[in-house]
Amino acid sequence: MNFSEIKEINSLGRNIFSIRFNALEEAMPGQFLMIWVPGIKEVPMSISSMDNGFEITFKVYGEATKKLSEMNVGDRIFYRGPYGKPYPEPVGKTAYVAGGTGLASLKPLINKHGGDVYIGARTKDELFLLDSNFHISTDDGSMGFQGNVVDLFLSIGKVYDTIYVCGPEIMMKNFYDRAGRKYGKNVYFSLERLMKCGIGICDSCSINGFRVCRDGPVFSYDEISMMDEFGVKRRTESGKIELMIKR
Ligand SMILES: Cc1cc2nc3c(=O)[nH]c(=O)nc-3n(C[C@H](O)[C@H](O)[C@H](O)COP(=O)(O)OP(=O)(O)OC[C@H]3O[C@@H](n4cnc5c(N)ncnc54)[C@H](O)[C@@H]3O)c2cc1C
Ligand code: FES
Repeated sequence: MNFSEIKEINSLGRNIFSIRFNALEEAMPGQFLMIWVPGIKEVPMSISSMDNGFEITFKVYGEATKKLSEMNVGDRIFYRGPYGKPYPEPVGKTAYVAGGTGLASLKPLINKHGGDVYIGARTKDELFLLDSNFHISTDDGSMGFQGNVVDLFLSIGKVYDTIYVCGPEIMMKNFYDRAGRKYGKNVYFSLERLMKCGIGICDSCSINGFRVCRDGPVFSYDEISMMDEFGVKRRTESGKIELMIKR
């Protein structure tokens, strides 16, 4: 376990924050950290920037992320990692399709390689890190295209050589079903599953025999095609497998 002093905290939108801290480790786009929130638990967080230390960007969902959002500059942040396989380098014309905080994982790749960005959220208050070139959708129509980000992507109809997708699994399954096969080989999905160890021991993140923490979190279209639980079933804290519902 490492620790570092928080250098910067920013509020980016409704209940969305970023925390930046010094780090000596090297990381690549797509990798994640296990952040220890003392007295609560460890949570996996994508590294949203690896320039000048590390940055994480998160939405407040429950106890751990609430506690993180209440930290101050100068406080200690505890972490393990970086873990997981990074995104492969893009080839040719590139698109990024993000749902909600999925943009945090894609941000380093976007900054490094550029390309077209499609970002969707429930409402405009949940959009963050916006750029005037981004294609935007909101479920309630409060900004940009009204509908989900997959509908937006399909409505624009541009053709790409490489596509990266990160967001709620049901949104990624929607992309996989409706656009994945067309682009096949060079589509990559970054999965967010419940994680405990983060290093391939406990099996809490497993999906059809793949461990998201070790074998992913980034998976190719072909790998996703081997997962019939993708977007359908997930594991609970107790290890029980349950049907996924739209959150
Ligand atoms: C590899 C990886 C990278 C991740 N990167 C990020 C990141 O960059 N930013 C980020 O905000 N989150 C990220 N997550 C998700 C993050 O780990 C969870 O949001 C976090 O564990 C929530 O902990 P909590 O105690 O605050 O909430 P919990 O008590 O765990 O959850 C409270 C409620 O919110 C729901 N919930 C929790 N997380 C999510 C979610 N992501 N989407 C929708 N509903 C949710 C739960 O089902 C529950 O009902 C990542 C997950 C993985 C596996
Ligand atoms: S979180 Fe333990 S095996 Fe993946």
